[in-house]
Amino acid sequence: MTAENNPPRVPRPIQYGEYLQLDQLLSAQKLESQRYGTAAHDELLFIITHQAYELWFKQIVFELESVIDIFDNSTVEDREMGQIIGWLSRITEIQTVLLQQIDVIETMTPLDFLDFRDLLVPASGFQSIQFKQIEIMMGIRREQRIPADRDFFLSRLTESERAKLSLLESRPNLLDLTDAWLRRMPFLTFGDFDFWREYARAVERMLESDRKIIAMNPALTAEHRQWQLSAIEVSKERFAAVLDRAKYDELRAAGEFRLSHQGFLAALFINLYRDEPMMYLPYRYLTLLLEIDQNFTNWRSRHALMVQRMLGRKIGTGGSSGHEYLSQTTERNRVFLDLFALSTFLLPRSALPKLPQELSRALGFHFAGAQRMAATTGN
Ligand code: HEM
Repeated sequence: MTAENNPPRVPRPIQYGEYLQLDQLLSAQKLESQRYGTAAHDELLFIITHQAYELWFKQIVFELESVIDIFDNSTVEDREMGQIIGWLSRITEIQTVLLQQIDVIETMTPLDFLDFRDLLVPASGFQSIQFKQIEIMMGIRREQRIPADRDFFLSRLTESERAKLSLLESRPNLLDLTDAWLRRMPFLTFGDFDFWREYARAVERMLESDRKIIAMNPALTAEHRQWQLSAIEVSKERFAAVLDRAKYDELRAAGEFRLSHQGFLAALFINLYRDEPMMYLPYRYLTLLLEIDQNFTNWRSRHALMVQRMLGRKIGTGGSSGHEYLSQTTERNRVFLDLFALSTFLLPRSALPKLPQELSRALGFHFAGAQRMAATTGN
């Protein structure tokens, strides 16, 4: 039924507590320490903090599902991009709150934690299904996880939780869908204009100018000059690898890149020409993915430090090595590394290949293009 066909709404009076189901929500903090005699003062904070996290995870899962639903189509409309950017920005704001919540839980001292920690075994954060859902929807694949993470994934979850996550792993994730969307991007070839040939020339000019600057720098010792010149050769090889599909695919197979070759080039083009109006929303989108990824890495790193402060070298209630395990997953469970790597291949605006007029017009706003046309034709 469409919105117009819905019967007219006659709202019922509803009270605050009823709407928010506060009876249920506020009676869901059961202290384990209470069960064994004396309530540990800080256990309420411990439970509420985790519950608040799970609520925010629920919102993040919801926003990611909505974004994935739109991207899981053969085309994404421009007006949908605006909505997607709004939802992703919301996720970054929620992440700011998630990071701050660590300050709240750190008001509990390690000694206070010891009043109830032994009662929590084997419960652990890595049984947070929603956290795993977020990881999977973003694009973390099982084979990418460190062995300990994979083992816990398999052994610490219930059968139905495992089935739910396995199903999710078989569905398209944000990384794959973003890659498919990038691959569909037009503008990379335009008539006779081969952008990547022009780009390769611009790179060579830039490296040549860098070589000259190094060669003429009187402050450098012969040894330093040699070192810097060989660094330029390394850059040259990197640029060449990205422009050569076969080399890129080799590096991708070795795990250095995740996006397809065409997807990576499209992301690079968007970043290079982000000042063109048509590139602005795609640029915002890619930047938000990078920020969300970075915010999760920040959270993981902060959580790992908190665990070190709280537990020292003790193992976790879930049985991992604690701080050491968490430092490893902080490093490993990143998704959009390619978007970080893009900066290697950026050129200064002044060195960018000039786009043919027609292409530049296609990337501009229509009314601005029409105005320019009117100005040149005098109509
Ligand atoms: C006193 C506070 C905390 C301590 C001491 C702590 C400790 C740990 C430890 C040791 C692990 C590794 C698994 C294990 O052996 O149990 C872990 C994992 C985890 N914790 Fe916490 N944690 C605390 C608070 C939180 C909070 C507030 C959250 C928010 C939901 C959280 C979420 C997670 C998640 C999602 C993991 C899995 C990370 C991964 O597998 O990469 N933790 N935690």
